[in-house]
Amino acid sequence: MEKIVIEGGHRLVGSVKAAGAKNAALPILIATLVAPGEHRLDNIPDLADISSTLSLLGRIGCPSLVGPTVKVDTSRIAFSEAPYDVVRKMRASVLVLGPLIARHGEAHVSLPGGCAIGVRPIDQHLKGLEALGAQFELSGGMVHATAGRLRGADFTFDMPTVTGTENVLTAAVLADGVTVLRNAACEPEIEDLAGFLNSCGAKITGAGTPTLTIEGVARLSPPSRPWSVVPDRIETGTYLCAAAVTGGDITVTHTDPSMLTAVLARLEDAGCIIDTTATTIRLRGPERLKPFTIVTEPHPGFPTDMQAQLMTLATLADGRSEITETIFENRFMHAAELMRMGARIETKGNHATVQGVPRLTGAAVMASDLRASAALLLAGLSAEGLTEVLRIYHLDRGYDGMVEKLRALGARIGRVDNDLRDPEALRRAITAA
Ligand code: EPZ
Repeated sequence: MEKIVIEGGHRLVGSVKAAGAKNAALPILIATLVAPGEHRLDNIPDLADISSTLSLLGRIGCPSLVGPTVKVDTSRIAFSEAPYDVVRKMRASVLVLGPLIARHGEAHVSLPGGCAIGVRPIDQHLKGLEALGAQFELSGGMVHATAGRLRGADFTFDMPTVTGTENVLTAAVLADGVTVLRNAACEPEIEDLAGFLNSCGAKITGAGTPTLTIEGVARLSPPSRPWSVVPDRIETGTYLCAAAVTGGDITVTHTDPSMLTAVLARLEDAGCIIDTTATTIRLRGPERLKPFTIVTEPHPGFPTDMQAQLMTLATLADGRSEITETIFENRFMHAAELMRMGARIETKGNHATVQGVPRLTGAAVMASDLRASAALLLAGLSAEGLTEVLRIYHLDRGYDGMVEKLRALGARIGRVDNDLRDPEALRRAITAA
């Protein structure tokens, strides 16, 4: 097993290309199930979660080929099951439910169970699919679904749910009649999914707003040209934070500032200088960060997937910052690890108060989830001495080539074997890497 080692205190400078969005690529790859045939997809990031998705599609009977363009052939569905050993590794596997029910009239999907950041039930997914006519039986930790042809319905979500909206949307495109989804999630990744489905012949309007209208069609087919997935706004935001915590100057290219309005506003509150074009964002970090306040919300509010990274910035600010997490009930696991590096954080329920310190000090820390691992890496880039980040499999799920990209920006960082402990040996390893 590997860990990541960072020697902090190096100013990061240069440009980095944003990868395609994990949270758009996953639902789009799975949505290929509703349009039988060979699909070609561009800008698919190289991530553990993408490999898990392709192997799940393979188990369903849909082979794929990975390359600059990813090819998936969904002509035939042999099995309609997403078993526990797949879903427990990647909860987004539940996204096969809607497409399998819509195309195949049957699906057997393991219930995802809880995760480090919260209970994360899927009741809204099931309620929405039930409104379209699906029937469910829960037994042995599995959801067993059956349905004839789905029929259009008017459904209101109890809360904006990203994958809930995606699951029901991807089923409704093949329903008989019109579906209206209300209080739907508005994330840019949902707009990308709707764009992809429309390119397959679907009739979706209102994507990116709380009300989606879907006029069902009898069949869909792969688009004539490859679909290119949108850039990853969370990866983009993470690299901007790397400039902010090192007093650096980084330009992220092949990205889209309009997806990050709330994040850029908070980074400006923290004293960063930001310049944008249609496809690039440049951030110059200040001498010393200023305190700020964030409240996470569904898009277009401040994304919960950037909360941990901004907490690292707050630990270095000249004053007190306030952070309120409203989406997930247990998303402050990184706070205790940051405190191991000398941060001063007080958490109470879903609120954290962060009193900034001039400098963090390197330590061995443990990642608990994907975005927490990014927050710890950022802390290591800024800290005095060496930081060792353990359980980096979390990071590999959602960041494509992060160590290499940070090295190209001037970071002293590397992957080493977990058992390597001696500081000099660690320093040699990351310098040589
Ligand atoms: C998506 O998760 C993202 N994952 C998450 O990104 C992201 O944090 C989250 O949206 C919020 O933006 C993917 O897109 C693959 P939700 P999702 O359903 O869809 C409650 C990352 O780091 N809820 O929008 O699972 C739920 O418990 C990951 O890349 C129900 O109660 O999130 C939560 O409190 C982490 N019942 C809230 O709604 C339901 O049926 C929002 O969750 C569904 C959700």
